[in-house]
Amino acid sequence: MEPYRDPSKPVEERVSDLLRRMTLEEKIGQLCQYSGFTEEIEEAVKKGLVGSLLNVTGVENVNRVQELAVKGSRLGIPLLMGLDVIHGYKTIFPIPLAMASSWEPEVVRRAAEVAAREAAAEGIRWTFAPMVDIARDPRWGRIAEGFGEDPYLSSVMAWAAVKGFQGESFSPHPERVAACAKHYVAYGAAEGGRDYNTVDISERTLREVYMPPFKAAVAAGVATVMSAFNDLNGVPASGNEYTLKTVLKGEWGFRGFVVSDWNAIGELIVHGIAADGAEAAKLAISAGVDMDMVSDLYRRHLPDLVRSGVVPVEVIDEAVRRVLTVKFQLGLFENPYADPERAREIVKCREHLDIALEIARKCIVLLKNEGALPLRKDLKRVAVIGPLADDRDAPLGCWRALGDPNDAVTVLEGVKKKVSPATEVLYAKGCDVSSEDRSGFAEAVEVAERSDAVVLVVGEPAYMSGEAASRAYLDLPGVQEELVKAVWDAVKDAGIPVVEVVMSGRPLTIAWSAEHAPAILAAWHLGVRAGDALADVLFGDYNPGGKLPVTWPRTVGQVPIYYNHKRTGRPPAPDRFTSKYIDEDWRPLFPFGHGLSYTRFEYSNLRLEPERLEPGETLAVSLTVTNAGSREGDEVVQLYVRDLVASVTRPVKELKGFKRLTLKPGESRRVVFEVPSELLAFYDRAMRLTVEAGEYEVMVGSSSQDIRLRGGFRVTRTERFIASGRVSFTRALVL
Ligand code: GLC
Repeated sequence: MEPYRDPSKPVEERVSDLLRRMTLEEKIGQLCQYSGFTEEIEEAVKKGLVGSLLNVTGVENVNRVQELAVKGSRLGIPLLMGLDVIHGYKTIFPIPLAMASSWEPEVVRRAAEVAAREAAAEGIRWTFAPMVDIARDPRWGRIAEGFGEDPYLSSVMAWAAVKGFQGESFSPHPERVAACAKHYVAYGAAEGGRDYNTVDISERTLREVYMPPFKAAVAAGVATVMSAFNDLNGVPASGNEYTLKTVLKGEWGFRGFVVSDWNAIGELIVHGIAADGAEAAKLAISAGVDMDMVSDLYRRHLPDLVRSGVVPVEVIDEAVRRVLTVKFQLGLFENPYADPERAREIVKCREHLDIALEIARKCIVLLKNEGALPLRKDLKRVAVIGPLADDRDAPLGCWRALGDPNDAVTVLEGVKKKVSPATEVLYAKGCDVSSEDRSGFAEAVEVAERSDAVVLVVGEPAYMSGEAASRAYLDLPGVQEELVKAVWDAVKDAGIPVVEVVMSGRPLTIAWSAEHAPAILAAWHLGVRAGDALADVLFGDYNPGGKLPVTWPRTVGQVPIYYNHKRTGRPPAPDRFTSKYIDEDWRPLFPFGHGLSYTRFEYSNLRLEPERLEPGETLAVSLTVTNAGSREGDEVVQLYVRDLVASVTRPVKELKGFKRLTLKPGESRRVVFEVPSELLAFYDRAMRLTVEAGEYEVMVGSSSQDIRLRGGFRVTRTERFIASGRVSFTRALVL
């Protein structure tokens, strides 16, 4: 048996043996990815000139194509079959922004694990997820796909997602897939929140805000990284040697491979930094983009570039090594095919659907509640109104892979299942999600007036978020706000409670509702079990515990607005000459970390040890949290730190730890955060990663604004860190 076919051999040996046997065209073939399957692609596969395919689905299809590569090509190298399995394969979970709202890494890990099981069962062994772009601008539709605005929360979730998709250690396993941290890097900082737009940020912001989740994914062992579309400080991310080689592969020691985003190599020409396809191919491969997603420029130009000496063959070999290594690590050579029987057993199985419900519940955020929630199940009449009240598509959100809207439970269906048999459930759509048609208002008002409680389901359809879905306004689309006002005006004097359920892929500027509605739930796009999860929360079978992973602005004019902002020399204050607006409050509508409960929590007894922290030591922050209400509930305790005086201006607070815990009525638990000192590091004036001596403030609370306890400590000496891939997290213990 040739060594590369021998699973007992070390992966490095198998790669080297195989590489020796490959022609230049076959090597370059491994660096080429195409979408779909055509006769032309079939011919290329049989010649060993394709390394990966994306968007080929169906277990029989995938097996047939795979067989062409394994049995039809000279060396029988299996294809890497990829798909955007972002928040579920066929069992669709809440969108990642919603899962971040759980503030529970285990939620993200489990969803990724189930998604991997289903995708792998049908032959998909590579997902282009997790998307870990930090997003401070809700105009950007892809905010839906990531974990929000905070580097620490996103880093924790990135780590969890990689472990969910790939397993604890990335080794051959039939139910694991290779993950892909995307879009490297700073794609979410697009000017104007306009997708694909220019990014121009400081090196410090790049390092402290946009890179950390990628660094965490790499430290978690992510197999692949996807280079982004955007121009980054003048050099497009898919031709950026500094970010790809110096940082990703150099400083962080990334050993997997980089795939470009869709035709991003071809777009180097459009950016104007490559004159033609050959120059684009040369620029990308030299910068560290190992695989070309669908531009076909690697196949067309690399052979000549190598033979003419412009691109050394060693550059090709290094890229091929990385690709082959992932294929060996997946066990593709031993098990290239999917098992249709196994697929039928586990895809959308009962266990997965139950996990989808459990997760969806945890992602719901109670934004406001003046006593309207929870509703009684024995109400005589409940009105369910709104364009998304009985909509199956919105709950699946953007990037739903092979999710089927027919599998989704609507809010109307969830409510009908939840209430007592004697309760009459009324329904009116009221209006469409985006048209100007108000003809349905009368029916909606009539239905509301006949009810004892109104559940108003409004928000964005799935197509208004995700890729190429930037919005210049963040209001409820169409005439939905008018519908909300019409229903509210009709019932407010009758004392009929109105609960507003807002489905969306982003924060929305719902200032009128925030002022008038007695209760508001942020429901994001919650996946196939949306209706059941919302019914559980609406009628009190589940006490919501989610928290916002992103700031909700009052108006789009405030954007960008985020919690970990700088202080400025004139912090906002009533005095005229301070940093604020003359026509709008400077504060957000709902702050980062905000989320209410049907119970209430009290914080006490904060202790910090040591109060003088030596470099390399761990700061222990402990406190007591008590459920002071009458219902069991979850609280997410949040730990923020502020560096009071430093060599560069620092944020007014930064999340450095969090813990979601469940407390019974009257129960108290001690929570201990063990904060490694390197989490205090930032880039100083010379761009050195540094923890500076000085005074620090600790803030612990229920949101970034709802700070309950404060304390202080001092770092005794300044410590500098060598740039590396080292990542550390705060350990949170519940005693
Ligand atoms: C798209 C997206 C990227 C996705 C890829 C493949 O354009 O930017 O997130 O993984 O192409 O579908």
